[in-house]
Amino acid sequence: MHAATHTTFAGICLGLLASLPTSAAEDPRLAASRELAATLQSELGSRLKQAMTAGGPVQAIDVCRMEAPAMAARLNLGASARVGRTALRVRNPANAPDAGARTVLEGFAHRLAAGETGPIEEFRTLPDGSARYMQAIVTQPMCLACHGPALAEPVRQALAKHYPADEATGFRVGEMRGAFIVDWKAD
Ligand code: HEC
Repeated sequence: MHAATHTTFAGICLGLLASLPTSAAEDPRLAASRELAATLQSELGSRLKQAMTAGGPVQAIDVCRMEAPAMAARLNLGASARVGRTALRVRNPANAPDAGARTVLEGFAHRLAAGETGPIEEFRTLPDGSARYMQAIVTQPMCLACHGPALAEPVRQALAKHYPADEATGFRVGEMRGAFIVDWKAD
């Protein structure tokens, strides 16, 4: 009985260690990245809600188009950290993932589909001292006006005008829309 409890405990600890190496968990950039992602999420979310209520989705497109990149840029920590959003299917080609980010996004999609709850995230440091943090962004009901399977015609037209290569529609609530990404330069 005692031995069994012990084994289970060890198993849990090993599981945690495997998902987040101790050195990474102690890296101050992990906590800083989580904070940057949370700030961008709440600032963007409240501006979006406000704009949707005030002027509807067609006008709110400008919040995403002009304010979202500016908000992310404002959160950059000098030259040391770059904050942004990416996805497997992007609306703005400037948000397209590099090969590494694509692999992480694919892993996130599997974890979400497998029913993982809580923030789905990954933090990786490279031997050169640089690091990358990513956290999955899940589709909410509010997102469907501009990312859902059935867009209102004026929304579709406004999006087509600015994003002729838009791939970011057809999402359903609970599906992964994309991820926050924070890239840390080696210091
Ligand atoms: C009013 C329309 C609108 C709504 C509502 C909206 N978005 Fe977007 N979204 C956009 C536009 C426009 C862009 C392109 C922004 C840019 O040019 O960087 C975008 C880009 C994104 C991106 C960056 C990757 C890409 O496709 O370029 C993510 C991630 C994203 N949206 C997630 C969400 C989530 C999650 C919600 C719901 C909480 C949401 N959006 C609601 C219009 C919208």
